Amino acid sequence: MTQPNAARSGTFAIGGDLSVNRLGFGAMRVTGRGVWGPPADESEALRTLARLPELSVNFIDTADSYGPETSENLIRKALHPYSNDLVIATKGGLTRPGPDQWVSNGNPDYLIRQAHRSRELLGVERIDLWQLHRIDSRVPRDEQFAAIRQLLDEGVIRHAGLSEVSVAEIEAASKVFPVATVQNRYNLIDRASEAVLDYCEAHSIGFIPWYPLAAGDLARPGGLLDRLVTKYEASPSQIALAWVLKRSPVMLPIPGTGKVRHLEDNVAAADIDLSDEVFAALDVAART
Ligand SMILES: NC(=O)c1ccc[n+]([C@@H]2O[C@H](COP(=O)([O-])OP(=O)(O)OC[C@H]3O[C@@H](n4cnc5c(N)ncnc54)[C@H](OP(=O)(O)O)[C@@H]3O)[C@@H](O)[C@H]2O)c1
Repeated sequence: MTQPNAARSGTFAIGGDLSVNRLGFGAMRVTGRGVWGPPADESEALRTLARLPELSVNFIDTADSYGPETSENLIRKALHPYSNDLVIATKGGLTRPGPDQWVSNGNPDYLIRQAHRSRELLGVERIDLWQLHRIDSRVPRDEQFAAIRQLLDEGVIRHAGLSEVSVAEIEAASKVFPVATVQNRYNLIDRASEAVLDYCEAHSIGFIPWYPLAAGDLARPGGLLDRLVTKYEASPSQIALAWVLKRSPVMLPIPGTGKVRHLEDNVAAADIDLSDEVFAALDVAART
C-alpha cells in the first residue's frame, strides 16, 4: 500500500503567496483533556507531529490557548528547525481560565502581546498566519482589526485571518487588513457557514473548516454513508474529509489528533476521489 500523502489533496496559496497542501493538521488535540495541559501520552503526540512532514502535511493550525501554550511548545519540540515549506498558523484572542473554558479578550495590547509570545514559543522570526480566534464583542471590532494591521506592518506576522465570523465581519475587517483565511466550523453535516465559504471562494480567501471529520447520523449502519464506506473501503470520517476537500478549492481542512494511526487515516482521505454523483448525493443526504 502506498503511503498517505497530503500533496495529493492539491495546493492553495494562502494570501496569494504561501503555498500549502490543502489537507492540513489541527494541533488542538495534542493537549490534555479539555484542551488543558499536556496530552495523556506526550511521546505519541510528539511522534504524531514528527510524522507530519513524512506525510507531506505542511500546514499546521494551532493557537496560544491550546493547553495554553502546550500545543505551540510541542510543535517546536517535534519540528524545529522547521523545513522551508512548513506553514504554521496560530491564533490569539481567547484566554483559558480552566479546562474546556474559553473567554474572549480582544484588548488590542493583549492581542499584540500574545502574537509576540506565539512567535517566541514557536521559535519563528515571523508568524506565517495569525488568526483572531474570536472577535470580542466587548471591544470595538475596529480596534481589534487595527491591532492585526499593526502586527502585519511590524512584520510580526505575514498573513492574518479570522475565526467564527460572518460575511459582514469579513468585509469590515477587509477594510483594515487583507483577510487571508477564515476558520469556521464546517463539515458535511454542519453547513451553517455555506455563505461564508462561498464568499471566501469568490475572494480567494482560504477557508479552514474546523471539526471537519463529523459525519454524525449519516454514518449509521445501512445509510448512504455506510454504503459508501464499503464502496471506497474508507471510514465515514475519511469520506467526510474527502467531501469537504471536493466542496471548494479554497478548503483547507485541519483534522486533529494526538495519534499517529489516526493521522495516517486522515491523510489517506487525500486519495479518495468522490464522483460528482456521490458528492451530490451526500450533499442532499446531509441537508435532509
Ligand atoms: N477556530 C476555532 O474556534 C476552532 C475550534 C475547534 C477546533 N479548531 C481547530 O480545528 C482542528 C480540528 O477540529 P477538532 O479537533 O475539533 O475536530 P476533528 O478534527 O473533526 O476531530 C477530532 C477528534 O476526532 C478524533 N479523531 C481524529 N482522527 C480520527 C480517526 N482517524 N479515527 C478516529 N478518531 C479520530 C480525535 O481524537 P484522537 O486524538 O483520539 O484521534 C478528536 O477527538 C483542531 O485541532 C483545531 O486546530 C478551531
